[in-house]
Amino acid sequence: MFITFEGLDFSGKSTQAKLLGDYLSSLKIKNILLREPGGTTISEKVREIILDREHIEMTPLTEFMLFSASRSQLVSQIIKPHLKKGHVVICDRYYDSSTAYQSYGGSLELKAVKEVNEIATGGLKPDITFLIDISPIKAFERANLRGNAKDRMENKNLKFYNKVYKGFRDIANKNKKRFVVINGSLTIGQIHTIITETVNKKLKS
Ligand SMILES: Nc1ncnc2c1ncn2[C@@H]1O[C@H](COP(=O)(O)OP(=O)(O)O)[C@@H](O)[C@H]1O
Ligand SMILES: [Mg+2]
Repeated sequence: MFITFEGLDFSGKSTQAKLLGDYLSSLKIKNILLREPGGTTISEKVREIILDREHIEMTPLTEFMLFSASRSQLVSQIIKPHLKKGHVVICDRYYDSSTAYQSYGGSLELKAVKEVNEIATGGLKPDITFLIDISPIKAFERANLRGNAKDRMENKNLKFYNKVYKGFRDIANKNKKRFVVINGSLTIGQIHTIITETVNKKLKS
């Protein structure tokens, strides 16, 4: 089973992905927790290029191609082999993030982004995608609470994040079969419960 987490930065994806992995491990269900961009030696190197604050000259298309390259390697080298072995693969962001950030948030044509997403992943679609829904304002509040240096992606402005936010909700609406939208203002425990209930139901079916 392939499970992805989506949402704005600070929505709680990494928190929930980790909790889900721990939960599955406690039930002796084999699982692997991955993050995007990253998860392989090559993909982690690409991650450094994408997030480097010095790379102000990076074009939207270059950025998208780098995300896609990182993802393509991750899918071939890690995700597909683990799914074949029967593992639950949990991925902290996947191609919906590219659609939301680079197309809705950026300037790239939706159709082109979708096509490259398909090519980069060989059409591998998640079984469940959890969208943790918090507004950009709320995300900014949490970011300020944290207070340390922002990376290149986090440095973009509120207008950009409003577009990304709308993008995620749009994508969820168009893919109702695999999306579960969760109110990110609930407590960490409440969100975790919704996630485990959804995953248990899917594991039984
Ligand atoms: N449901 C929640 N309510 C309040 N704070 C949360 C919640 N989930 C996560 N956080 C906090 O918000 C911050 C961002 O969480 P994180 O899981 O790293 O988000 P993301 O991976 O989406 O960027 C962390 O400080 C985390 O402890
Ligand atoms: Mg995270």
